[in-house]
Amino acid sequence: MNQIDDVRNRTDIVELITSLGVGLRRTGRSYVGFCPFHPNTRTPAFTVYPDTQSFYCFGCHASGTAFDFVMRQQGLDFRGALELLAARAGVTLAPRSDSERQEDARRARLLELNALAARVFNHVLLSTRRGEAGRAYVEQRQVGPEMVEAFQLGYAPDEWHFLLEYLTEKKGYAPDEVEAAGLAVRHESGRLYDRFRGRLIFPIRNAKGETVGFGGRIISNGQPKYLNSPETLVYKKGELLYGLDLAREAIRTEDRTIVVEGYFDVISAHQHGFRNVVAPLGTALTRSHIALLKRLSHNVALALDADAAGQRATLKGLDALRESAEAGGRMVATAQGIVRLESDVALRIIRMPEGRDPDEVIRADPDLWRRLVAEAVPVIEFYLSAYTAGLDLTRPEEQRLALDRLLPLVAELDATQQRVYLSRLEQVIGVRAELILDLLRGDPARRRPVLRDGKGWPRHGEGRPAPPPLPDEAPHPAEAGAAPVAPPHPALDARRATEAYLLALALYHPGVDAAVEASLEAGLARHPTLRDLFGGRLEDLLEEPLHRELWRHFTTLPPVWRPATPEQVRAWAEGQDEPFRETALRLIAVAERRPQTLRYRHEAEACARKLREAQIAARISQFKERAHALEDAEEFERLARLQAEMALYRATVQRPRRSSTFPDARDTLGQE
Ligand code: UTP
Ligand code: MN
Repeated sequence: MNQIDDVRNRTDIVELITSLGVGLRRTGRSYVGFCPFHPNTRTPAFTVYPDTQSFYCFGCHASGTAFDFVMRQQGLDFRGALELLAARAGVTLAPRSDSERQEDARRARLLELNALAARVFNHVLLSTRRGEAGRAYVEQRQVGPEMVEAFQLGYAPDEWHFLLEYLTEKKGYAPDEVEAAGLAVRHESGRLYDRFRGRLIFPIRNAKGETVGFGGRIISNGQPKYLNSPETLVYKKGELLYGLDLAREAIRTEDRTIVVEGYFDVISAHQHGFRNVVAPLGTALTRSHIALLKRLSHNVALALDADAAGQRATLKGLDALRESAEAGGRMVATAQGIVRLESDVALRIIRMPEGRDPDEVIRADPDLWRRLVAEAVPVIEFYLSAYTAGLDLTRPEEQRLALDRLLPLVAELDATQQRVYLSRLEQVIGVRAELILDLLRGDPARRRPVLRDGKGWPRHGEGRPAPPPLPDEAPHPAEAGAAPVAPPHPALDARRATEAYLLALALYHPGVDAAVEASLEAGLARHPTLRDLFGGRLEDLLEEPLHRELWRHFTTLPPVWRPATPEQVRAWAEGQDEPFRETALRLIAVAERRPQTLRYRHEAEACARKLREAQIAARISQFKERAHALEDAEEFERLARLQAEMALYRATVQRPRRSSTFPDARDTLGQE
């Protein structure tokens, strides 16, 4: 820990950020410049605060410390950022333990050996007689000399001991080290021989540009076509992307990564000026890959083969992503129909023409490639066509098969977007949306789709952390046993209880949600600039994840199917999965306990007002805090205006207002 503090104390964030290429201008006590994390050239929204040694961008909301800046701008993990900052600050990092020190030494030695091997292979390719075949192959694949240099391509001669002898006899490495680097393989007889023979060599570098492994393409007709390094101390294929060190800048400036399948796809792309292109190393995309890319841009487009094998690989990759999304979030469709994974990566699929890979397309017709990229489809559309391909959707069994495959995906979308995709499903599969909804929510026995390929999807609601307890579930401090429990925050608790009561009323009494939403809308109508900030739906008042989720389950039902009588509400609640079932039943009991419910709409509106008021108060203090640290006059003014607007909004919310749209008694008497 100490050395981290040491590095932090010796780093000046203004000097650091300037030295990393961001121009900063002093304004009062802070500095402003153009944000390196989102495309902007008009207003300098990126602000650096020397006092707190932090930065904040008012445009894209990137924020953090010197460490965060380096991690994000340089695409490094924490350790990498620490190393970079330590080197700048002249701090020697002590390895954390003996075994780690040994590992660091082995690592360093491995990297050195890899760097040397890459140089040898490159030299063979460029300027030896042994490299003749390699040069012919490079020419045949139309790879230019700049790319040979940028990617440090090489050639491994078709000999058993070429590299081994060079490294051990000329350079003094132990044969075991060459084996540990994955460059030599041990034969049953115990003798070592070169792993890469008669292959064009692609050195594989990590984000820092260190050579950590190799790929080799056979240049005659042998097997396998591609051979890669085995996993070593430094080569973890699930965490590496080919070309990332060269693509980083472009990914950031274009705010998008394009993921292709192979080495040649990456090289052709770069050769034609498409520099934001990377490839995994013969594996599906992993969570680590996405984490790596997310630091540079949140937009990812996948270009994978159009043939069946390619599509399977795509689907496999997407499965991996979906599984990894469990921990961080779920799939959400945005207004543009982009599905975000792992909380905030927008994934699109570039559809390749049948039987051609990016390498071929780019070389033959760069404009076509440009167009394909521009026309990338949201991943959900891709699933729609991939999962219905080859099915005869006029036959009920095949419709059912398509539904079984697609429903789990739809289940992961939020309620509003579900509606959008339900109508797409209706169009594509030819099954009525109501029936699909029935499968999705209505009938518990039929809800869990039968997947014919035996592959389970992570299900809606699974694998997520348990929601916080409801107020009446929270143990009283005195009852909580020996462990000291902090008393619940009173204001928070009151808010939770208000939320629970509002939700109870909304579930139990039809029309409550419409009344609440009408009054929210009425308030927002006078403060349209605040609409995005606060929202006009009942859902926007619910801050407890469990409440919000339960309400979403409820509102996904089409209005005609909404439970209308107490019995129906109870039956609906009974049909929910835990923990929703228990919560719903508890809430219903709360609603039932209030017999004088003629005034329930007023009560609900009062709850809504209270909740909204608390939300506004929280925002105002948030803005105050932010404005406090602010020197940019223009930005300050904008925030001040919003704050004033919020104060007005709060005043209108506080004033209880007779709802003219939904007078309780008249409405209720007319309806029930
Ligand atoms: P492809 O077989 O699709 O080949 O492999 P390609 O990239 O189009 O190669 P060319 O154009 O025929 O030379 C795509 C990627 O899958 C991995 C490699 O990373 C390759 O670039 N791969 C492929 C392997 O790891 N091993 C193999 O045997 C084949
Ligand atoms: Mn190819």
